[in-house]
Amino acid sequence: MCLQRINLPRMAGFTGYSAYLRAKLPNSTNGEVQTVNIVLGITGGIAAYKAPDLVRRLRERGAEVQIVMTASAEEFVTGTALQAVSGRPIRANLWDKEAEAAMSHIELARWADAVLIAPATAEVMARIVSGGAPDLLTTICLATEAPIALAPAMNHVMWSNPATQANRAVLEERGIHIIGPGIGSQACGETGAGRMLEPDVIAATVFNLTGGKGQGLLEGKKVVITAGPTREAIDPVRYITNRSSGKMGYAIASAAAAQGAEVVLVSGPVNLMEPSGMEVVHVESAEDMYAATHASIGDADIFIAAAAVADYRPAEAVEQKIKKSNEAMTLEMVRCPDILASVAALEPGPFTVGFAAETENVVAYATGKLEKKKLDMIVANRVGRDCGFDRDDNAATVLWNGGDRSFPTSSKVELARNLIELAAEHFYAVRGSETQPKLTVISNID
Ligand code: C5P
Repeated sequence: MCLQRINLPRMAGFTGYSAYLRAKLPNSTNGEVQTVNIVLGITGGIAAYKAPDLVRRLRERGAEVQIVMTASAEEFVTGTALQAVSGRPIRANLWDKEAEAAMSHIELARWADAVLIAPATAEVMARIVSGGAPDLLTTICLATEAPIALAPAMNHVMWSNPATQANRAVLEERGIHIIGPGIGSQACGETGAGRMLEPDVIAATVFNLTGGKGQGLLEGKKVVITAGPTREAIDPVRYITNRSSGKMGYAIASAAAAQGAEVVLVSGPVNLMEPSGMEVVHVESAEDMYAATHASIGDADIFIAAAAVADYRPAEAVEQKIKKSNEAMTLEMVRCPDILASVAALEPGPFTVGFAAETENVVAYATGKLEKKKLDMIVANRVGRDCGFDRDDNAATVLWNGGDRSFPTSSKVELARNLIELAAEHFYAVRGSETQPKLTVISNID
């Protein structure tokens, strides 16, 4: 049985950047970035708990999301939460006179660039196959000319039931896209095929169905990003590292992918979920990270060094575990290769963005690094016990020749989105015209 019916695309789409950016930045299609309107149908399955995250993923790419819930969906997720994340009133009832007066179900069906049902139960699949329209969601499915995609989520026996499989086959014959389901552990405690795929994968797939609408800022661009700490071996069991969690770098990689970039993420050792829609190269030491970065950098447009790379490593990683003998011991350390400076020195090289994690004099040190390493941009962050490393939030100040911009504390995901938008803006400015000033971004790191 083939479970992945759609070839999962490279992440595409764009995030919610300002109208200013939309108007200003080039787009690989026609210079205009269009909003993608998505009707998101939510039906009654346990996977509905992932719906707020799915809405967030769709909106990250710049979609307007109109949620249509079935009555049973409300047993699993609240309309209040969904209204908050979608920013639009929830539609649930075909007979809601007030809502119908504002936008009728037919207008909603026309408004949609895509109709996505996630999670899609066996019941909604059967209803769509039958052509019945007893509720708002199935009515929209009948009335729309937009592509329809379903992300099934159900118990594995229900999914493999011949009735469900026959319905799936009919839906596919009619051009309805079936996204997943995935295989894995299920809410019922069993394991098998029937898990709803992850929201970022579903969002990326749906954007691929909208005929090029909603192309990202970095469509057609390659972005290489380093993230996380490095580990410098002392002996086979010990190493030197730092407190970087990799969260900031991973968030930047996802934000770049959401803007349509081809992303290579060179990651030090972290405890984070593998992000989808990009190539992830896992490394340990600074030297490994240097080699992996240079293996990918040749045709890169933008390089973002978010990793907290060790400055020094033990001169020698001894082969056997060091035994304690003397009261004190001295480690001889040597400098690690500076990955960022080496990329910035490439001619021609990518637009290069560095980070500066500092405990004091943040702006002054960052400015010094910008000049010394000959960067296009630097993201400086204050790190300490209560900020910067190993947290989910961060703050940023952006500086460039002749201007500056501050981002107050927000989630690293939100900050990453802002940084990518800013980097894209200045990438086009610098690469589009040699007369544009280079800029500096001051921010926090992971
Ligand atoms: O000089 P400093 O280590 O403070 O510079 C920080 C910036 O340089 C970060 O962007 C970091 O990823 C990068 N860096 C690097 N290779 C090193 C040290 C730092 O790429 N060996």
